[in-house]
Amino acid sequence: MNYIQSVKNIINEKFPNQPLANVVTFGCAQNENDSEKVRGLLAQIGYTMTDSLEESDIVIYNTCAIRENAELKIFGNIGKLKALKAAKPDMIVAVCGCMVMQQHIVDKIKKSYPFVDIVFGVNNLEILPLLMYKRYTEGKKQILPPQEKTDIVENTPILRNGKSKASISIMFGCDNFCAYCIVPYVRGRERSRKPQDIYNEFKSLVEAGYKDITLLGQNVNSYGKNLEEKYDFADLLQLLCTVPGEYVIHFMSSHPKDISKKLIDTIRDNPQISRQIHLPVQAGNDRVLKEMNRHYTIGQYMDIINYARQQIEDVSFSSDIIVGFPGETFEEYLDTEKLVKDVRFTQLFTYIYSRRNGTKAAAMEDNISHKEKSVWLNRLIKIQQEIVFEHLNSFIGKEVKALVEEKHDDGSYTARMSNTFVVKFIADTDCMDQFVNLKITGKKGTSLTAELI
Ligand code: 5AD
Ligand code: SF4
Repeated sequence: MNYIQSVKNIINEKFPNQPLANVVTFGCAQNENDSEKVRGLLAQIGYTMTDSLEESDIVIYNTCAIRENAELKIFGNIGKLKALKAAKPDMIVAVCGCMVMQQHIVDKIKKSYPFVDIVFGVNNLEILPLLMYKRYTEGKKQILPPQEKTDIVENTPILRNGKSKASISIMFGCDNFCAYCIVPYVRGRERSRKPQDIYNEFKSLVEAGYKDITLLGQNVNSYGKNLEEKYDFADLLQLLCTVPGEYVIHFMSSHPKDISKKLIDTIRDNPQISRQIHLPVQAGNDRVLKEMNRHYTIGQYMDIINYARQQIEDVSFSSDIIVGFPGETFEEYLDTEKLVKDVRFTQLFTYIYSRRNGTKAAAMEDNISHKEKSVWLNRLIKIQQEIVFEHLNSFIGKEVKALVEEKHDDGSYTARMSNTFVVKFIADTDCMDQFVNLKITGKKGTSLTAELI
């Protein structure tokens, strides 16, 4: 923070017109939240945000390592900055996030992308002003090697993207080591923020008018494990729900092995908590789940679903699924189809397994072709599409509450229900960023149409 003023002085001199910054996010909601903090730091230094690469005086790529195609896409994007940087030598090019928490990636950037000025990892965003100061005063590149860091920095400035929707990181890192997953290696060990710090951030968001707030963690169900007091995620939700106001709380992700009846009961008893639970199942076959190191069976997964359905009226589920994990057979994949048909998720994120260096699964034999796996993925997507259509149809004639997200030139609005379904309607009063009550009149493509009540 001490360097913010020093960098401010430097950039005021270098860019006497308004200096512009572009922070581009790849990957998940956690990265999006990190980018908001990076923008917060840049705004304090004096930058205005822009979407234009060409006009930017600093470009920061906040990167994702979850699958190989994410990394390939990011390298493609970094490569495109070469000419821009040659034309604007005072521009800073920085790369941060999960991808650069891997030494081989940092080495590749140094070797093949020498125009990158700054590299910093995922757990120390607040170091950016110092690196910028050194870059400008010492004239040397600032490429940090991946660093393990366990303390939590509170009160980093933050420049939020939306006016009604926001996210709060309640914990960082992951200790689960699912066999396919790079996250524990790049984001480090699990650590939770203090309930009071989260409460304060949450309360200030509600007071500022935010209405849709997502609590983020790789596995929110193990929230609190490293805190001194005995405190779990259900306790945290209960605490946040004491904040007065009209809002909906979402959370993600929730690991099925750690979800408790107490948590489901807490959701049941607090109508501010979203009735859609994101519960990544990953696969529908017990042998595959065991190989994935997931620590639950499909029987146990269904027990949670059934308990939640008994307790919470209108509960629905979304999930993540990987097809083609090493050794998965077609018959085992068919168990995933069966599970999807049984649970009838309202939203499903499906992926083809991607081999990640350093993970346990990277050493496993994988003899199903990518082409075959694509066939499985497409089958699953088709099944899910049918299910979503049926869910959409089931809302026709019903009254729902939704948060308005977009206003269109023709006077129509787009709103989102708490289960993420999109609803379009027309209104003559301005209802942007407000909750509205709607009567669903029909379905158009993958969204619903409605009348304002
Ligand atoms: N390959 C494919 N998908 C993956 N995910 C995590 N690691 C991999 C991988 N190596 C998926 C999981 C997780 C989601 C965020 O990304 O489904 O829940
Ligand atoms: Fe990856 Fe598993 Fe941790 Fe999720 S819980 S981040 S899938 S290791």
